[in-house]
Amino acid sequence: MAVREVLKMGDPRLLSPAHPVTAFDTPELHALLGDMHDTMRALNGAGLAAPQIGVGLQVVIFGVNGNPRYPEVEPVPFTVLINPVLAPLAGAMEEGWEGCLSVPGMRGLVPRHTALRYQGFDASGEAIDRSVRGFHARVVQHEVDHLQGILYPMRIRDMRNFGFTETLFPGQDLSDD
Ligand code: NI
Repeated sequence: MAVREVLKMGDPRLLSPAHPVTAFDTPELHALLGDMHDTMRALNGAGLAAPQIGVGLQVVIFGVNGNPRYPEVEPVPFTVLINPVLAPLAGAMEEGWEGCLSVPGMRGLVPRHTALRYQGFDASGEAIDRSVRGFHARVVQHEVDHLQGILYPMRIRDMRNFGFTETLFPGQDLSDD
């Protein structure tokens, strides 16, 4: 397993829709997940999508537990989510600050559905079906957007709410992504 280079905004590979995984529990899939896990942990990310390391497959991982980049949020269980499908549970949208390992050093205020159901598969091909809200719902929407070639700055409604982390949140010692 290895920490991989994370592609940055401007790389066209971040804009391509990802393909579904067709074979589960394979050495290749486990190797990909190992690299994603190592990369996310090394960079203190809340989540990572396979296209961010240049792999065009519908694979995301996420999880937050005492993450120094997100000190204020409720824990989200570590999850491997493959071939995800999202369904909003309420019409309500809520603005919240997001960052992304592919947009280092920046934060933006992004509208997301407050509650949603997500379905997909784990690494073994076992079905996942969860209904979540709050930061958990936000993280899932952010990561699954990567599989559609969407980066969070594309979702910002008012670009005045987009800027450098150290300027927006001085003295909070949020790590530099
Ligand atoms: Ni991201």
